[in-house]
Amino acid sequence: MAAATAMREYAQGQGLVEELTAAMKTVLIEKPANAKARFVELLTEKDAPPGTADTWSEPGKAVDDVGIPGGGKRLLLVARPQGDFKDSDFKVVEEPIPEPAAGQAVVQNIYVSVDPTHRIWASDKPQYMPAVGLGTVMRAGCVGKVVKTSDPEKMAVGTYVSLFGGVQEYACVPIATLNPVVSDVPLTYNHSVLSVVIGHTAWLGTNICKPKAGETMVVSGAAGAVGSIAAQLAKKRGAKVIGIAGGATKCAWLRDELCLDGVIDYKSDDLDAKLDELCPEGVDCFFDNVGGVTLETLLTKMRNFGRVAFCGAISAYTDENEPTVMNVKNYQMILMRRLTVQGFICVDHVDQFGTALGELIPMVMAGELKINEDVREVGVENFPSVVNDLYAGKNTGKLMLKINPE
Ligand SMILES: NC(=O)c1ccc[n+]([C@@H]2O[C@H](COP(=O)([O-])OP(=O)(O)OC[C@H]3O[C@@H](n4cnc5c(N)ncnc54)[C@H](OP(=O)(O)O)[C@@H]3O)[C@@H](O)[C@H]2O)c1
Repeated sequence: MAAATAMREYAQGQGLVEELTAAMKTVLIEKPANAKARFVELLTEKDAPPGTADTWSEPGKAVDDVGIPGGGKRLLLVARPQGDFKDSDFKVVEEPIPEPAAGQAVVQNIYVSVDPTHRIWASDKPQYMPAVGLGTVMRAGCVGKVVKTSDPEKMAVGTYVSLFGGVQEYACVPIATLNPVVSDVPLTYNHSVLSVVIGHTAWLGTNICKPKAGETMVVSGAAGAVGSIAAQLAKKRGAKVIGIAGGATKCAWLRDELCLDGVIDYKSDDLDAKLDELCPEGVDCFFDNVGGVTLETLLTKMRNFGRVAFCGAISAYTDENEPTVMNVKNYQMILMRRLTVQGFICVDHVDQFGTALGELIPMVMAGELKINEDVREVGVENFPSVVNDLYAGKNTGKLMLKINPE
């Protein structure tokens, strides 16, 4: 089953979109005692989402040759990248804005999410979703506005939605695959702190780490979109939190704004020595976004029965010799220190998204979370150079394109 089909089937509680929007409004504005419970109920009373490893990784279908239909300016993937993305890996085409068939709507994409996983999706290596097919539009999460609909009752023109919209100006997709956005917050938050990919991922990984008072949690990629939320959640749960990031500016932000207990600039500090200095008792939990040398070093610093949330390995995404980079030389430390190491993918856990929002939304509304976003107001043709900024550490927070006005 194609991933898109799986998502469609999950969203097939047709009233879900309106019900969830109403419930989110209640949570955000009226805040009655039962609002969060009702919201979670709405998400969980539907059929279980398709997010099992089996359906998402689709062993029988390695490549999605269908892609996301759409129009306007569209960015098609035409070559498997080697190293960083190049403009020649893509082709920009301009096509008419489609008419929606029965059950479909056309969405004008406004914010296009730019994620480290784009490099994985563009490759044909084994991965957690089918690779993007050559000649199809580059896959991307989007937040946009419905501009044409086949069913105004279910999805009115003018509704703001989040969707797999692709790196293109307009997406033509089944109404059932459109998700409500959280209103009464900046629209961009639906790509950052209140999205499945960022806020939910940070929440899931923090739950795997289980930080608590008296314990030390280390977060790599700590100044990034996921890492910065995870670090703040761990602080709120009472742990001592050490953030690892590249460069003085990012480290100063972690220290002065996020008030982390210690920071390490992996580009200029001696990571090994600095970990010994800041974590003299060792590390109880490690939220890993980068893999590679950082992971190798951390494995030697973990305390017995420590927890590692394996969220990402961005240090290896653009390396064609990935198998050598990804060999974990200190794998035996998992045994020596009796560690629990869990890889996780956010889309497998959308059934818990309501619970995550129940924790994140009140913190956002109370101004208790610092949210860094990096919005580039450029066209889809700029996607290759913008996404490369992630692998060079040139983004400051959740990276996205703004390709149309709100
Ligand atoms: N498991 C899931 O479901 C899931 C969901 C979302 C994201 N992720 C993963 O989470 C990680 C963070 O994603 P994000 O969207 O929040 O991106 P991000 O952290 O906002 O941006 C990526 C950051 O990675 C760092 N980086 C790049 N190359 C590096 C290298 N060679 N060594 C060390 N750090 C490097 C850079 O920060 P510095 O300037 O500090 O180097 C860069 O700013 C990625 O690995 C991503 O694949 C996983």
